[in-house]
Amino acid sequence: MGKTISSCLLPALISCFYLQLQFGTASDTIRASESIKDPEFIISQGGVFRLGFFSFANSTNRYVGILYNQIPVQTVVWVANRNRALKDSSGVLTISDDGNLVVSNGKAEILWSTNVTNLVPNATTAQLLDSGNLVLNNGDNGGSSSLWESFQHPSNAFLQTMKIGVDVKTGRKVHTRSWKGPDDPSDGNFTDCLEPFNIPEGVIRNNNQIYFRTGPWNGHFYIGLIEMNTVYLDGFYVVADDEGKSYYETYEYSNKSMLIYYELDYEGRFVERKWDAGKGDWINRYLILQNDCDFYGKCGAFGICDPKKQPICRCSKGFKPRNAEEWRRGNWSSGCFRTTPLQCQRDNNNGSGGAGQSDDGFLKLKTMKAPAFPDRSSIINGECKDQCMKNCSCVAYAYDAGIGCMFWSGDLILMSRNSPLAESIFTFVCHLRNWIQGLGLLLLQQ
Ligand SMILES: *[C@@H]1O[C@H](CO)[C@@H](O)[C@H](O)[C@H]1NC(C)=O
Ligand SMILES: *[C@@H]1O[C@H](CO)[C@@H](O)[C@H](O)[C@H]1NC(C)=O
Ligand SMILES: *[C@@H]1O[C@H](CO)[C@@H](O)[C@H](O)[C@H]1NC(C)=O
Ligand SMILES: *[C@@H]1O[C@H](CO)[C@@H](O)[C@H](O)[C@H]1NC(C)=O
Ligand SMILES: *[C@@H]1O[C@H](CO)[C@@H](O)[C@H](O)[C@H]1NC(C)=O
Ligand SMILES: *[C@@H]1O[C@H](CO)[C@@H](O)[C@H](O)[C@H]1NC(C)=O
Ligand SMILES: *[C@@H]1O[C@H](CO)[C@@H](O)[C@H](O)[C@H]1NC(C)=O
Ligand SMILES: *[C@@H]1O[C@H](CO)[C@@H](O)[C@H](O)[C@H]1NC(C)=O
Repeated sequence: MGKTISSCLLPALISCFYLQLQFGTASDTIRASESIKDPEFIISQGGVFRLGFFSFANSTNRYVGILYNQIPVQTVVWVANRNRALKDSSGVLTISDDGNLVVSNGKAEILWSTNVTNLVPNATTAQLLDSGNLVLNNGDNGGSSSLWESFQHPSNAFLQTMKIGVDVKTGRKVHTRSWKGPDDPSDGNFTDCLEPFNIPEGVIRNNNQIYFRTGPWNGHFYIGLIEMNTVYLDGFYVVADDEGKSYYETYEYSNKSMLIYYELDYEGRFVERKWDAGKGDWINRYLILQNDCDFYGKCGAFGICDPKKQPICRCSKGFKPRNAEEWRRGNWSSGCFRTTPLQCQRDNNNGSGGAGQSDDGFLKLKTMKAPAFPDRSSIINGECKDQCMKNCSCVAYAYDAGIGCMFWSGDLILMSRNSPLAESIFTFVCHLRNWIQGLGLLLLQQ
C-alpha cells in the first residue's frame, strides 16, 4: 500500500524545510502567523511523524497528511484534504485569520479546515506530536485543552493511544473510515467503530450496514476476533465507562521501538501493519474476513455458516429457509424460520425453573461466534441455563469467564462455524430444548 518516496528528493526537502523556518521556531508546530508551502513539512519532536504535502504514484493530486518520517516507504496515516485534492503544487497549510488550520490552493480557496468556532485567532498553534496526533490549541502547549485533534477525526489508520469509540454524553463518534482505493484517500464505504451495545464490541460497517463484528469484549480480548487472545493481550484494551457514558478502544504497546498500527483498508479489512526493518517494508496481517462466513449475516437469522461445506449455509435444526427460491440461488440473507413455534412451557411452571424440561438439553453448537446484541448478567457459569429457562423470550445463552452469562432473544445470526481460527479461540457448546423451545448456547473458554 505504501509507495516508495523518491529518496533523492528527501534530503532536498529536509534542507528546504530547515531553511524556511527561522531559528527558534519549533519544527513540530505551526503558529498563528506561519504557514508551510508545498513541498515543506513539519516533523514531530522525536522525528517519528511528519506533516506535509505528498502525492501517490502516477498522480499529480497533492494532499496534506501525516506520514511516518523515519522509514523509506511512504506511509500515510492521516489525510487532511482527503476529499478535495490539490490539483497542483500551489498548496499552503496555514493558520487562517479565524485561527483554524486550513489547506488552501493557489487561488486561496480553502479545501479543508479544522472548522472550529470561537477561536482566539492569533493564539492558535498546530503541533504534531510523536504519537502522530496533530493538536490545535490556544498556545497553552499542554494539549489538555485542545480545540481540535486529528486523533478525534481519524482517517483509515488506528494509531497507538488513539481512542476509537463513542462518547455517549456528546454522542460524538470517533471512527476510522476506509479510503476509496489503495491510492485514493477519499471517503470509502467502510467505517470501524467501537459500539457500546450491552457489551462493547468493534463493528465494521459497509455503507452503515453491519459488515463485521469482533464479538463482545470480555475484558481481555474480543471473543470473535482471530488470534486476539494471544497477540493483543499486551496493549489493547476497551474502556466502558458507565459513569461517564463513554466507550472506547485503544492500545499502547510497551515496546516503543516497534512500529505497528492498524488500518481499515479500502476493502473493509482490518489490517495489522508491523514494520520489518530487515525487509525494509511493512508486514500486513489480516485479522478478519478470512472466509465468506466472517461476513455478518451471510446465512441470515438462524442460518449456520460453514466455509468447508458447499453450499456454505444451512438452516439450524428445526428451521427452514424463509425464502426457498432465494436460498437455492445462494442468496441466504433472509435466513431461516422456526418450523414449529416456541412452546413456552417453562413460564407456566411459574418459577419452578422448568422442572421436567430442564434435562431435555440445549443444542450444542461448536465454534460459533457469539451472536450479536446479547443481554448480560454477571451471574456465574452453570446458572446461565436456569436463568434462560425461566425467561420465555430467552432463546439462547452463552458463558464467558470475562463477561458472565449472555442471553439472546429474537432472531439469532449464527456465524463462523468450523472456522479454523475460531476453534482455536473458544468452543461454543449449545443445546436445543426439545428442538422447538429455542437455542441455548454455552460458551466455554479454553
Ligand atoms: C504507475 O505507472 C507505472 C508505469 O506506467 C506502472 O508500472 C505502475 O504500476 C503504476 N502504479 C500505480 C500505482 O498505478
Ligand atoms: C465547516 O462546518 C460547517 C458546518 O458544520 C460545514 O457546513 C462546512 O462544510 C465545514 N467546512 C469545512 C471546510 O470543513
Ligand atoms: C491578537 O492580535 C491583536 C492585534 O495584533 C492584539 O491586539 C491582541 O492583543 C492579540 N491577542 C493575543 C491573545 O495575542
Ligand atoms: C461503495 O458503495 C457504492 C454504493 O453501494 C458502490 O457503488 C461502490 O462500488 C462501493 N465501493 C467499494 C470500494 O466497495
Ligand atoms: C521491540 O521491537 C523491536 C522492533 O520490532 C524488536 O527488535 C525488539 O526485539 C523488541 N523488544 C522486545 C523487548 O520485545
Ligand atoms: C438477496 O435477498 C435480499 C432479500 O430478499 C435482497 O434484498 C437482496 O437484494 C438479495 N441480494 C442479491 C445479491 O440478490
Ligand atoms: C404464577 O404465580 C403467580 C404468583 O405466584 C400467580 O399469580 C399466577 O397465577 C401463576 N401463574 C400460573 C400460570 O400458574
Ligand atoms: C428475559 O430475556 C430478555 C432477553 O434476554 C430480556 O430482555 C428480559 O429483560 C428478560 N426478562 C427477565 C424478567 O429477566
